[in-house]
Amino acid sequence: MPPQIISGTAIAEKVLAELQAEITTLKAAGRTPGLAVVLVGDNPASRSYVRAKDRMCQKIGLHSEKLELPATTTQEELLTVVERLNNDPAIHGILVQSPPPKHIDEQAVILAINPAKDVDGFHPVNVGKLAIGDPSGFVPCTPLGCQRLLIEAGVETAGAHVVMLGRSMLVGKPFALLMMGKGKGGDATVTVAHSRTRDLRATMRSADVLVVAIGKANFVTADDVREGAVVIDVGINQIDDATNPCGYRLVGDVDFAGVAPKAAAITPVPGGVGPMTIAMLMANTVKACKLTGHEG
Ligand code: GUN
Repeated sequence: MPPQIISGTAIAEKVLAELQAEITTLKAAGRTPGLAVVLVGDNPASRSYVRAKDRMCQKIGLHSEKLELPATTTQEELLTVVERLNNDPAIHGILVQSPPPKHIDEQAVILAINPAKDVDGFHPVNVGKLAIGDPSGFVPCTPLGCQRLLIEAGVETAGAHVVMLGRSMLVGKPFALLMMGKGKGGDATVTVAHSRTRDLRATMRSADVLVVAIGKANFVTADDVREGAVVIDVGINQIDDATNPCGYRLVGDVDFAGVAPKAAAITPVPGGVGPMTIAMLMANTVKACKLTGHEG
C-alpha cells in the first residue's frame, strides 16, 4: 500500500483557519492578540524566517511588531527592548530569533522574557511546566507541530514506541516530554536516541513512530525503518542540485524516496513539519492572549 503522505501544508492551513476564526472573536471582544518578533543582526535565513512570521500574523489578523536590530546591538540594549515588550499590553508573545550574534548571551535573553509571553517555550518556567504536565505553559513550536501532525493524521501514540532521534532543547527533549505526557497525542513509550546511542540503527528499526531531528541530509535510509512505521522528518538541509535554477534543493534528514515505500505514513520536506512550526507560533500567541489576566 502506498504510504499516507502527511501534508503539513494542508494541516497548517486548517489550524490557521481555526485560529483566524478565534482571532475574529477575540477582536470583537476588544482583545487583539499581538506578537513581537525580534531579529538581531543580518543572518539571511533568520531574516526570511522573521519576515514569514510577520506576514503570517498579518494574514490571519494578529497584531505584529517586527523589530530588526543591527548586529552591533549590545546585550543591554536588547534586554531593554525585551523589557519594553514585557510591559506592552498590546504584545502577548515575544520571540527573539535564534541564533543571535555571538556577543549576545542567548540564555540571559530567554530568562528576561516574561514566561507568560514566551511563545517559543524556551524559558525554564515553561520547560518546567511541560515537564510536570501543566497545560498553562508554552511548548516549543516545532515539537508541538509534530505532535499536532500525528494527531491530525490519526496516528495512535498511546502505547506506541516513539523513537526521537535528536536531543536538542528546540525539538528532541520537548518532543519526548510531549509524547510521554498523559492524554491525546501522548501516552507513548519514548526512546531518545542521539549520536552516542549504541546501535542507533537497530534503535530506529524498533520504532512504531520515528521522529528525526539531527540536521544531517538523508541520514535515515530504508534499512533503518520498520515496515509500517510512521516517520516524521524535522530536518531541513540544503544540498547542491545543478538541475535546480538556484543551484540547491531542500531535503530532510530522511531519504524520502527510499523510506516512503516502507512507511505507513511519512512527512515530506518541504511541506511537512515546516509549515506547522509557524502555525504553532500563531496558536501559542492566541493562547497567550487568552491567558492574559488569568495568570497564576
Ligand atoms: N530559530 C530557528 N527556529 C527557531 C524558533 O523556533 N524560535 C526562535 N526564537 N528562533 C528560531
